[in-house]
Amino acid sequence: MLAIDKSADAYLYRQVIDLINQNIDDGTLRPGDRLPSLRRMSLSAGVSVPTVRQAYVELERQRRVEARPQSGYYVRHVGSNEIVHPGRSSAGAPSAVECRPLMSRVYDGIDHPGLVPLGIANPCMAKPAVKTLNRTMKRVMARVEERSLGYATTLGEPQLRRQIAFHYLDSAGVKLEPENICITNGGQGALFLALLAVASPGDVIAVETPTYHGLLELIDSLGMLAVEVETCPEEGVELSELERVLEKHPVKACMFSTTLSNPLGVTMPEEDRRRLVALLEKHDTVMIEDDVYGDLRYDGIRPTPAQFLSNTAKIITCGSFSKTAAPGYRVGWIATDRYMEQIIRLKIAFSGSSGLLQQLTLAEFLASGDYLRHVKALRPVLQQNAERMSAMVAEHFPAATRTSKPVGGCVLWLELPRHVNSVRLFDDAIGGGISITPGPIFSPSKRYSNFIRLSFGHPWSERTEGALRWLGRRAHELAG
Ligand SMILES: Cc1ncc(COP(=O)(O)O)c(C=O)c1O
Repeated sequence: MLAIDKSADAYLYRQVIDLINQNIDDGTLRPGDRLPSLRRMSLSAGVSVPTVRQAYVELERQRRVEARPQSGYYVRHVGSNEIVHPGRSSAGAPSAVECRPLMSRVYDGIDHPGLVPLGIANPCMAKPAVKTLNRTMKRVMARVEERSLGYATTLGEPQLRRQIAFHYLDSAGVKLEPENICITNGGQGALFLALLAVASPGDVIAVETPTYHGLLELIDSLGMLAVEVETCPEEGVELSELERVLEKHPVKACMFSTTLSNPLGVTMPEEDRRRLVALLEKHDTVMIEDDVYGDLRYDGIRPTPAQFLSNTAKIITCGSFSKTAAPGYRVGWIATDRYMEQIIRLKIAFSGSSGLLQQLTLAEFLASGDYLRHVKALRPVLQQNAERMSAMVAEHFPAATRTSKPVGGCVLWLELPRHVNSVRLFDDAIGGGISITPGPIFSPSKRYSNFIRLSFGHPWSERTEGALRWLGRRAHELAG
């Protein structure tokens, strides 16, 4: 059909439906694309706005498009998959981290420059703020002159700490004192100092399952033990499970992400955060809250970090600019009013201070409003990448594959058919020029042997699509 035919027998709204469907079927409109607005479609097709609305509502009912509040209608994923439920099982005993050798292999793969980078969670690289940041750094260098080569203060540059405090006020409506913020070498540096401040070798640390493999690296390197707590893909840590774990084991600290966990991408609802905080208080357990993705929800809503839901709970929040601005700057932070003394002592021992120029550049990036503008522009790019990747997985991977449904960040968590060995798929993918992350490194007990994590934190390209088709074919072969 080329145009709406008012003389034809078919209802006009049906013709609009056919027109949109044809555009979706031939790839003119792709998953995540916005449909023309009601008014625009009405003008271009020569039909009334109510007729276009009727067509769009029907397309929504047919699950071909979805309505987004205040925004319009968007093409849905083709054959959108069910969200992954990573299989309940009762929490195991605390144990040493078993997946370390595999992690080293994965890092070798991630560091390989020629590979299609589906293995590294680097969301800001989907739309890098390279020009703005370079310009800002040049301005800073000209201004501070010789000081640019000097040490930064141990706690971190005051203007950056002030900007971070303001950002929490502005985005989450919470009050944080600049002197309760310590700048660290990335989010990983923050997690490291926080963990060392509250736990010692041999202590038991509770983690979500699946969890970010960098936490497992830390727990293992510091001679601690990990115990997994079941996590639900809609609400995060299962609080009844956590209660059981806290009652059964001498847990020294929990390391959880309350917003956009990695790899599940789940955000804990506020009511559950409050219950979590109450549970931690009841058991007098410390929580290290990994909040590095807090600014990257596609709806722009920044949930309140759990730390700010109680004055008495022992919670340390760790953040980073790696996911939103520049991973190479290695600037993260710790927010805590309770453990600052220990943290400063440890920071002096391990690094003294963090990069001065990077801190000053980020302070100016935030103060000028460029940071907010950049993150606002980044979110829809990531969302579109998420939708494209989900659509391609639905089209090219074995039918039994299930995926997470990211509401932020840059990773998709895939459950492949049971007998697909994800480490084998990882090895084959490296041979095929693609990096992916195999599931077992997200669990201290090497669960998730048929899961993989794929990142869409890079500009979408033909290469990305070729890599996904390749992985889908190989997953089919391994599924037998
Ligand atoms: C959940 C999570 N926490 C912390 C980090 C570490 O952040 P950074 O690169 O700032 O050290 C990462 C990086 O992948 C992450 O995914």
